[in-house]
Amino acid sequence: MESAIAEHLKCPRTRHRRIEDDYAPPYPAWSARAPQGVGQVVMGFFGVQSRGREMQGRACAALLEIARGFTRADGPGHHDLAHHVDADGYDNMIAIAYWDDPQRFERWSATPGIDAWWQSDERLSDGIGYFREIALPRSERYETLFNTPDRLEGIGVVMGGVSSDIQEHAYWGSMRDRIPLSQTDAMAPAGTRTVLAGRSAPGQRVRVGGHQNIAMIRSGQEWTDTQGQERKLYLEEMEPVLHEGMDFLRDQGLGIGCYSNRYMQHLDPTGAPLQKSFGLSFWRSLADMERWAESHPTHVAIFGSFMRYVQALNFQLQLRVYHEVSVLKPDEQRYEYINCHPRTGLLNGLSV
Ligand code: HEM
Repeated sequence: MESAIAEHLKCPRTRHRRIEDDYAPPYPAWSARAPQGVGQVVMGFFGVQSRGREMQGRACAALLEIARGFTRADGPGHHDLAHHVDADGYDNMIAIAYWDDPQRFERWSATPGIDAWWQSDERLSDGIGYFREIALPRSERYETLFNTPDRLEGIGVVMGGVSSDIQEHAYWGSMRDRIPLSQTDAMAPAGTRTVLAGRSAPGQRVRVGGHQNIAMIRSGQEWTDTQGQERKLYLEEMEPVLHEGMDFLRDQGLGIGCYSNRYMQHLDPTGAPLQKSFGLSFWRSLADMERWAESHPTHVAIFGSFMRYVQALNFQLQLRVYHEVSVLKPDEQRYEYINCHPRTGLLNGLSV
């Protein structure tokens, strides 16, 4: 067993972990590992927003155009496609792309075909909305957690490596203890979101600036390989509770520090749904996220049933769960919306 914090990211502590040094978790879990040379990564959420069936074709074409862009030089090392319908009834499709090198991402973004498409005035009059939410966390500002070591997801795919089983998990507060910066910093939030340019209105572009220590989580599950009792358990007991928790964050999140929550299903390259989903949310602080996870009845129930079932199934779970969590400095966040409704992503709750 080893620490979730990679050796080269350890430093003299000024803050304690929540566990004692001899703590042993009740079941194993793993963290992704990047080579030491990877100092910063990029998680890019490229979204297309549309309303009504007649606009779906146009939205899919736009999503595929974005995904085609990923094959250009300096494109991402990995991407996923996902869909959800938001509280206002809009379809949102997102291409989520990961780079292990911010310079490569900047070169890719500046590629004439990529940048010109995004900047084109046609984007203002396509009849659909677009957004880019880009997080660029430095290595000390994010953590990953997987319940299996053999099929990484998200940023884990481009990080490329995996730890042995880690110590800091299966207790409230373990997410914080896995983030290297928690060794020396409380990661408290400061400031507010600001509108950097534009207005949120039809035919408009708007850029939003993030404040200090906004926390972001992508927490996913895949039930493809589950069968029998385990599948029934996930689909009939866990998923409905999870869904309720995700709806709560979507509809009432602002009151508890959750700026935006999307409960999304993966799509294959032809647009067909996969048996994989995730919650993607942005929070005022890591502490607000922790409070929801450890106190909201929905997540407490899911957490409890997960703990019971891993043990009942003697750790032979086919359900795969993972998450990636980042705590971001203002210069590690870029949010831009074109033609999107005012409750989209980081616009939610902002008067623009
Ligand atoms: C089927 C779905 C889910 C299951 C089975 C599940 C279960 C768990 C478990 C077992 C942990 C403890 C992990 C460990 O340290 O070993 C955990 C932590 C956590 N989960 Fe979930 N979860 C699910 C979905 C979600 C979603 C969608 C979100 C939010 C978008 C979320 C937010 C969190 C957070 C913030 C923590 C960290 C709590 C802390 O360490 O203080 N979870 N979850």
